[in-house]
Amino acid sequence: MAARLLIFVSLLLSGVHGAQITTTTLQTIHGIGASGAWWVNQLSLYPNDVRHNVSELLFNQNTGLGLTDYRYNLGGGGVGVTTWDRAPETPYVSHGVYNWSADAAGTYYLREAARQGVPVITLFVNSAPTTMTSNNQSCGGDLVTDRIPAYVQYLTDVISHWKSEGVEFTHVSPMNEPDDSFGSCSQEGMQVVPGQRAEVVTTLAASLKAAGLSTRVIADESVDTTNYNNDEPVWLNATVGESLAGNCHHLYSFASAATQQEVFEYGRNLSGGVPTWFTEICCYNAANLNESDDPLAALTFSSQYDPTMLSGLRMAHLAWQSFTYAEDSHWDWWTALSNEIGCTLSSNATCWDDIQSGGEDDGLIYYDPDYDSTENYDIKLTKRYSVLKHFTKGAPVGAIRRAVTPESDTTDDAWRVLAFDYDSACEQYSTCAQVPYSVVAMNAQWNASTITLTSNGTFALTQPIAMYRTSVTEDYAEAEVPTLSANGSLVIDAPEMSIFTLFF
Ligand SMILES: *[C@@H]1O[C@H](CO)[C@@H](O)[C@H](O)[C@H]1NC(C)=O
Ligand SMILES: *[C@@H]1O[C@H](CO)[C@@H](O)[C@H](O)[C@H]1NC(C)=O
Ligand SMILES: *[C@@H]1O[C@H](CO)[C@@H](O)[C@H](O)[C@H]1NC(C)=O
Ligand SMILES: *[C@@H]1O[C@H](CO)[C@@H](O)[C@H](O)[C@H]1NC(C)=O
Ligand SMILES: *[C@@H]1O[C@H](CO)[C@@H](O)[C@H](O)[C@H]1NC(C)=O
Ligand SMILES: *[C@@H]1O[C@H](CO)[C@@H](O)[C@H](O)[C@H]1NC(C)=O
Ligand SMILES: *[C@@H]1O[C@H](CO)[C@@H](O)[C@H](O)[C@H]1NC(C)=O
Ligand SMILES: *[C@@H]1O[C@H](CO)[C@@H](O)[C@H](O)[C@H]1NC(C)=O
Ligand SMILES: *[C@@H]1O[C@H](CO)[C@@H](O)[C@H](O)[C@H]1NC(C)=O
Ligand SMILES: *[C@@H]1O[C@H](CO)[C@@H](O)[C@H](O)[C@H]1NC(C)=O
Repeated sequence: MAARLLIFVSLLLSGVHGAQITTTTLQTIHGIGASGAWWVNQLSLYPNDVRHNVSELLFNQNTGLGLTDYRYNLGGGGVGVTTWDRAPETPYVSHGVYNWSADAAGTYYLREAARQGVPVITLFVNSAPTTMTSNNQSCGGDLVTDRIPAYVQYLTDVISHWKSEGVEFTHVSPMNEPDDSFGSCSQEGMQVVPGQRAEVVTTLAASLKAAGLSTRVIADESVDTTNYNNDEPVWLNATVGESLAGNCHHLYSFASAATQQEVFEYGRNLSGGVPTWFTEICCYNAANLNESDDPLAALTFSSQYDPTMLSGLRMAHLAWQSFTYAEDSHWDWWTALSNEIGCTLSSNATCWDDIQSGGEDDGLIYYDPDYDSTENYDIKLTKRYSVLKHFTKGAPVGAIRRAVTPESDTTDDAWRVLAFDYDSACEQYSTCAQVPYSVVAMNAQWNASTITLTSNGTFALTQPIAMYRTSVTEDYAEAEVPTLSANGSLVIDAPEMSIFTLFF
């Protein structure tokens, strides 16, 4: 009762907000994912029941997070890489000779993703095998131009092999962050200069097609908007775009929403309209100390482990910017699991329940970095795990985004709202309201608040059939649906720091 009264009082103080769902339909969503770099290596030393549980938690499309993309990291052999768990094995032995027993750690989760019906499965590469890099290592070198045909053949052979094993890669990314050779060798990496990228993309697409594979190429996973803006005009045009299914970028500069809008529209223009994909992000904190508690703060690349709703809603805000401003068709978090908790569980068993400045926000689920000595095989689900489920469920593959007004990143209003249709053939119905759809809405502030959803034109809101909520105290918990009012509006009462998905 006291809690309800408190919510009511804060509602009066925080004012009433509104969002209108419009008749304008926009981009089609094609996956929400995370990657298998590089936790799979440590998890291979875990008890089988924990490994299996992690598969259920990530991939199960009914009871788990239900990722709609899993990014398998095809290793380059890890030659020169200084951290063993970031040195994945490669099946490459020599030209045309493969060892399919290699990378058992990574292929376990690849097979699990396929078994659980993850609809988009992407193979991504940080480094080619050492016979194809300029320094004969899996880090710090360049892709050798003369070896591009051999590299393309290797990727085609690996994808063909997995198809024969019942694992179909829908997409392949031949160069992850080609703008960074990772000379520090803390992980695999190779530079692929902009002048090489068109050849890699077009010859790989042709090779896959010739091998009878439906796998589509995505590129180039530039680190940030600056590199994307500089490099894309060098290699990307409408002809090259015909070989490309996704025009991919990361966002490690945490560029403003307005910059994202401009840069990625430019990228789509260059490519002849290839959809842009947001394929990696992690590791942030507020750019300004005065906004350290604000989930809508401008962000910067930074260490800090934060399992709370603060980081959860920061992730949701990034996804919202990506869908509304960048108009991306796909959204990936960096890595599914991490051990960067920034504290010692054997000294304090609950330290991973709180923010730790020394850790990293790079995973969705965490495990003990000292598992080897402590034999503590517990795992910790962050709020990012639960928040991402609002997107995997609200925006399944094929969902079409519907414009919502206001759609502004600068308003004082702390609500952010997205809407998705589940049928591209909206026009075939007499009113678009007959098409199943969802709303994902977040109250990104440390105050309870209320929002009134309305609609107009041929689109009319209907009575929701289910609603799920993640908040400081709940994780994708089913909540009582609000009742559609006689005038067609819908009111959501939200606790502080919460996100909702409504299904209609
Ligand atoms: C294949 O790779 C596995 C795993 O690394 C290794 O144990 C095995 O010796 C390799 N086989 C050959 C023929 O190299
Ligand atoms: C890489 O290996 C090749 C073949 O063994 C050799 O000719 C070349 O000198 C090596 N390059 C470097 C930078 O070590
Ligand atoms: C597009 O780029 C490719 C690769 O650089 C080049 O071969 C081709 O001529 C370009 N096409 C157009 C229309 O500019
Ligand atoms: C993209 O192309 C459209 C249509 O030609 C044009 O109106 C728009 O200004 C272009 N956007 C950018 C960012 O170049
Ligand atoms: C925090 O500081 C930055 C930089 O000085 C400023 O732009 C921003 O408006 C401030 N935010 C708040 C909430 O005061
Ligand atoms: C354990 O860690 C938590 C989270 O950082 C902290 O709040 C708590 O005080 C710590 N407990 C002890 C006994 O140090
Ligand atoms: C899987 O892990 C979650 C999170 O730690 C835990 O709640 C659940 O009980 C585990 N399930 C099984 C079957 O081990
Ligand atoms: C939350 O509401 C209180 C009044 O209940 C107000 O004083 C405070 O400024 C609000 N905080 C934020 C972050 O909006
Ligand atoms: C419906 O929404 C569109 C898009 O925001 C707007 O242009 C139009 O004026 C609205 N119509 C009504 C009747 O509110
Ligand atoms: C629609 O009905 C709701 C609930 O009765 C009311 O709060 C709201 O003001 C009404 N909106 C309009 C535009 O009449």
